[in-house]
This record gives sequence, structure tokens and C-alpha cells, in this order.
Amino acid sequence: MNRRRFLGIGAAVVGTGAMGAFAVPSAARLLAEGRPGRVLGSAVELPAPFQVPLPLPPVLQPVRSDGTTDHYEITQQIARLEILPGLRTEAWTYGGSYPGPTLAVRAGRQIVVRHRNELPVPSVVHLHGGHTPADSDGYPIDLLLPVGAGAGGAQGTAGTAGMVGMAGMVGMAGMAGMPGMAHHADLPAGRTTDGERTYTYPGRQRAATLWYHDHRMGFTGPALWRGLAGFHLVHDDEEDALPLPRGEREIPLMLADRSFAEDGSFAYPAVDPTLAVPGVTDDYMNGVLGDVVLVNGAPWPRLTVDRARYRLRLLNSSNARLYRLELDPQPAGGDALVQIGGDGGLLEAPVAHDSLEIAPAERFDLVVDFSRFPPGTSVRLMNRFGSDRTTEVMLFDVSSRTVTDDSAVPERLCTLERLDPAAAVTTRTFGFRRSRDDGWTINNQPYEPGRSLARTALGSTEIWRFFTDVHHPVHLHLDPFQVLSRSGAEPGRYDAGWKDTVDLRPAESVELLVRFTDYPGAYMLHCHNLEHEDMAMMADFVVE
Ligand code: C2O
Ligand code: CU
Ligand code: CU
Repeated sequence: MNRRRFLGIGAAVVGTGAMGAFAVPSAARLLAEGRPGRVLGSAVELPAPFQVPLPLPPVLQPVRSDGTTDHYEITQQIARLEILPGLRTEAWTYGGSYPGPTLAVRAGRQIVVRHRNELPVPSVVHLHGGHTPADSDGYPIDLLLPVGAGAGGAQGTAGTAGMVGMAGMVGMAGMAGMPGMAHHADLPAGRTTDGERTYTYPGRQRAATLWYHDHRMGFTGPALWRGLAGFHLVHDDEEDALPLPRGEREIPLMLADRSFAEDGSFAYPAVDPTLAVPGVTDDYMNGVLGDVVLVNGAPWPRLTVDRARYRLRLLNSSNARLYRLELDPQPAGGDALVQIGGDGGLLEAPVAHDSLEIAPAERFDLVVDFSRFPPGTSVRLMNRFGSDRTTEVMLFDVSSRTVTDDSAVPERLCTLERLDPAAAVTTRTFGFRRSRDDGWTINNQPYEPGRSLARTALGSTEIWRFFTDVHHPVHLHLDPFQVLSRSGAEPGRYDAGWKDTVDLRPAESVELLVRFTDYPGAYMLHCHNLEHEDMAMMADFVVE
């Protein structure tokens, strides 16, 4: 299957636009390019920084609970939000807010989330970092169709005002109808559901900062850009026993860059604005960067903090932007950002950083002690990888009132199991590359549902080796991993602990150890630069 077929259209439809041959940049240029993406400039005047308070996403309450299970309900819906002061932005939301509501759950409890799709497009919900059975993992063709637009009903809704992407929806719903797919022997039908469905998360995992987001094949980039993302925080007894900052001093921070059109809507360079066809225009093949930095959905917000320790759960939910975060000023003695956890929960011991590089989909759990700053200090969170306005992220106003703080960061946080390289039954290699004809590929293959690049035995430990041309934040579903080496040397400064996303830098290779546990089925391996992902840098692996 070639890329045109992946995109579900013929060359004639779009001509030589995004579908044309891709120029393959020279190695030297790729290296010089460094960080991926291109900035899409907003068409509105941007607000001054640090004018709006940091919002906190609402915490969702279960609709009911029993001895084993907590049940939640979320309606996916359009909401008109005031993101830039004085302007309305139509967002695709979980429950009417951006970010969506936070699920705060206990390890060991089963979580069942009923989603209802009132959006104008099909959706797919994935719990990122979740240890989830395949049928609830958000396989990219397991569509949840909009209410009333189900199979057979598609015809009837063709005239519904405001429906966008119907052609794509119907096309994707009937994947088997796509050119090149009908004859593929292994093609799964896709577990398509009408209007509402439940996702079940058994809760067999430790405390960690997870997040949920849309994962529809070919359209994850525009869906997240328009707002489909939220936190899912898992708590457990091990973590509760530590004297870490909590309550008002435990704050989730979802970073995302965005661009805005003249009317206040989100601007996104989709090759097809109706979103019937996946992908972005040629210029943005390497990723879409916004010129506005949002934290929890607010542009360059500010937060008043006590002179005390705070736990900041950072998530980079940007489509393609990589940040290098740093406080300005730095406290005397540096090491302001004390990392206590990563994608997969607590580290064994804290790691102090002056600056922190965070790639799309990565999470860093930090403790920052604001008592190290004099009362009244304005501390900016900077992005040293930014340009112009994206060099600033948010502001902390250090209050001068006197407070008590009985929190601490223990020298030992927990005991982590180390996966043993000697236990690995096989080593597999995956190359992340751009190809002339197929867009972004893994082992030269553009994504095709049902074609797996690896079959692995349930319970086995394996070494997976990734190598790359340009930056790719690579993510595995189902199980977390441990980084073994980078280009043959020690893991990097940001690789500690259990991770589910690892940033490959240009011309680098990374080896990791992963053990496939509990759930058989087809899972995903992909680049979390969402434009790369949508333009086919994704693969199935099958656990059996
Ligand atoms: Cu955060 Cu497969 O995704
Ligand atoms: Cu994931
Ligand atoms: Cu990539």
C-alpha cells in the first residue's frame, strides 16, 4: 500500500500538493535542522504574557462506584471557549473544557469510562501510558461514530448542517472500502461503535501521570490541536506514603502550542480543511508549531505560589514542539527542577536539573521549592528552544506571606525493578525515516492497520532498538520500557525510570528494554510528533 492509498485518495484529487514526491533532505541538512516543525503564525494580535491566571482542569467525579470499579461519563462535544482574551475559539472537547476533565483514580481500581461522541467527526480514545487491553486501547480504526451518524445512518446525516469530515468519516468507518485495503488479508474490520461506548482500564499499574487523547487514524494531529486531551492521574499507596507536596501544591501543567486564525478559531494547515483527507500541507510535513504557548489551555498564564515546595506534573501535549524548560531567575545553587518521576511514575531517587527537555507526549514529575526565591520574586518558566513569543511559558509569583511546609523530597523514592538485558529473548530494530513516496515510515513501511512489524510472546522481555534520521519522539503502547543506551553510550539525563515515550535525536539510536505483559492483541508503536504519526509513522505490533 502506498501513501496515496493510505490517505485514501488518488493523486488526481489533490494533484501535486501534499501528495507529490517528497524532497528527501540531505543528511547534513537534516542534522542542521535539529528540532522539527515549522511555526504557523497566528492571524490575530497575541495577548501580552502573564495576564491570565493558570486554570486547573476540573476533576471528574465518578457517576457510580462499586466494590471494584469506578464509572465515569464523558461527552465529546464542541465548546466555544475564551482562550485568547476577548475572542471565542471553537474547540473539540471532552466534557466542554480544554483540557478535558482530569480523572484522578486509584491503582487497583477498575476504571470504566463511557464516552458519548457529539462531535462532527468520529473519534477514538486512547489512554496514553495506560496498561490497557487491546479492545479499549484506542486502536486507530476502532471508531466511535458521532451520535446519529452510524453505519447505514451515514447517508441520512449527509445533509446535517455543520458536519465536517463526513466523507472522511464514512471512508474511515468503512476502511475496507479504501483503495488498496479491500484485498489485504490481515485487515481488521475495526471495532466501530455508534454514538457511545465504554473503555475499560483494569488499573493494574502504579501511580503515574497519564493522559487521554484522540487517536483516530490519520487525524490525531488536528483532533488534539482542537482540544481533545486530558489528564488521567493514577495514585497509589506507595506514593501516598511519601511526604511529597500535595493538595493545592500539586499541580498538573499541560503544555501545548497553538495558532489562531483571524476569527479566533484554531488555525491548522490541514491539506484538506474539511478533514476528509489526512495530512498537512508540504511546508508542515515536519510538524506544526504554534506561536502561542498554552498551559492548561491558557496563554502564558501566571500562578501565585507560596514560598514552599510544589509538585508540578508536566505534560507536553504539543503536536510537534520540543521544549527546553528553565526557570528565570535560577535560585542560588541551581538545580531548581527536581525530577521525582517520569512517564511511568516515581524514579528511585530524585534527579535535579537546571533545565529540562520535554518532547511531545513525555511527562516529568517535578518538585520545585519556591522558598529558594526571595519573597515577591517573579519567576518565569522559559523555553530555551523557543523563538520570539514561544521562549516564555508561564510566570510564578512568589508570595511574601509566611507559610508552613512539611513536605520533603526523600532521597529514596521507591524501589524499581530493573529489567535485565540478559533476559531479553530477542533484539528488534526499527528505523524511523522519511521516504520519498510514503511520507514518514517505520522500517520503510507507512502505517497500515493489520500489518504488524513485530509479533511478540506475552510475558517476554525484548530489546528494541530505534534509529532515526531527524527528531522523533517514539511511543509504545501497552507497557512502559527502560532506556538501555543512546547511540551505544549511557542513557541521557532525561531517560531515568519507566518511560513510554523516548525522544530520538537526529542520527541517534536508542536501545530499550520492554516486557510485554497481561494483554494479548494488536498495539501501536509510533512517532508522537502528530504530523509524523498522521502521515504514517506508526506500526502495529502483536502480542500473542
Ligand atoms: Cu499518546 Cu498512541 O499515543
Ligand atoms: Cu499511548
Ligand atoms: Cu517523528
